[in-house]
Amino acid sequence: MISKTSTTTFSSAILRSDREPVKILCGDVRKKLKEVQDKTFHTCVTSPPYWGMRDYDHREQIGAEDTLTEYVENLVECFREVRRVLRDDGTLWLNVGNTYTSGGRAWRAADSKNKGRAMSYRPNTPMGLKPKDLIGVAWIVAMALQSDGWYLRSDIIWHKPNCQPESVKDRVTVSHEYLFMFSKSESYFFDQEAIKELRADGLGRKNRRSVWTINTEPFKDAHFAVFPRSLVRPCILAGSPVDGFVLDPFFGSGTVGVVAIETGRNCVGVEAKPEYVEIARKRIAGSAPSLFYGISLSGGNSHTP
Ligand SMILES: C[S@@+](CC[C@H](N)C(=O)[O-])C[C@H]1O[C@@H](n2cnc3c(N)ncnc32)[C@H](O)[C@@H]1O
Repeated sequence: MISKTSTTTFSSAILRSDREPVKILCGDVRKKLKEVQDKTFHTCVTSPPYWGMRDYDHREQIGAEDTLTEYVENLVECFREVRRVLRDDGTLWLNVGNTYTSGGRAWRAADSKNKGRAMSYRPNTPMGLKPKDLIGVAWIVAMALQSDGWYLRSDIIWHKPNCQPESVKDRVTVSHEYLFMFSKSESYFFDQEAIKELRADGLGRKNRRSVWTINTEPFKDAHFAVFPRSLVRPCILAGSPVDGFVLDPFFGSGTVGVVAIETGRNCVGVEAKPEYVEIARKRIAGSAPSLFYGISLSGGNSHTP
């Protein structure tokens, strides 16, 4: 692992020569990605903090901006830097959540099952919206990235059968999130075969559909929502070749690093909070290339996620 003060410029050649499949850079993503050379990664798979949903309690945290406009501008700036470090044929898989206006509440209590729910601040209601409005943040971010030059290629619905129950009585319970797929250029690397799904009649496989039904996966060491590995796996398989380079600029507990190892890819994660870097380091140290990876190496690129 590299030191927190390193000023090394990372390129795929340097990363490969180090023979460590996962590296973690600790600090603000907008600064740390400056250490990475242009066009290093095949794909980026990530989930930034959602606006006003969690207090990660660090100075440069994204997600705690007073206004939605500032949040969107910050994300656009982060992902502009991501675009620079992606290869020209690279892709971005972005999971970002929708939120409701806080209805004038100034804080939110923790609950016994979800300590990360506690918030010492709540964002203001954006201009033009009303209390209880669904803000549509996910689509606002997607449109802003598209305007900034990304090609928006797919809106995938992540359907969560084991979603959090909600105490609401005047709307349906939210059981999905968006996973947007963007590309840097008009044509790009996409291993369609690697993520095909079974046909309903069981006779062969068909092109992957845009609704993915995947349960959330608890991870006891983190007080925030972690990616389920089954959500990350198809993104990495379709977005990078075996031994390719994957980026997660909001690394958290390091799920993308774990799946990179399982699928035989290299990964760089950026995470602002040193405590989370430690959690990710320990988690990654305990993961190993899976049987699945062994099969994929002997059988070419024919993965089944
Ligand atoms: C939703 S969590 C990511 C969880 C991750 N996908 C996982 O599976 O564990 C978002 C992460 O972004 C980090 N973060 C927030 N602002 C950041 C910034 N400016 N630079 C880098 N990381 C940041 C938070 O500390 C948090 O760990």
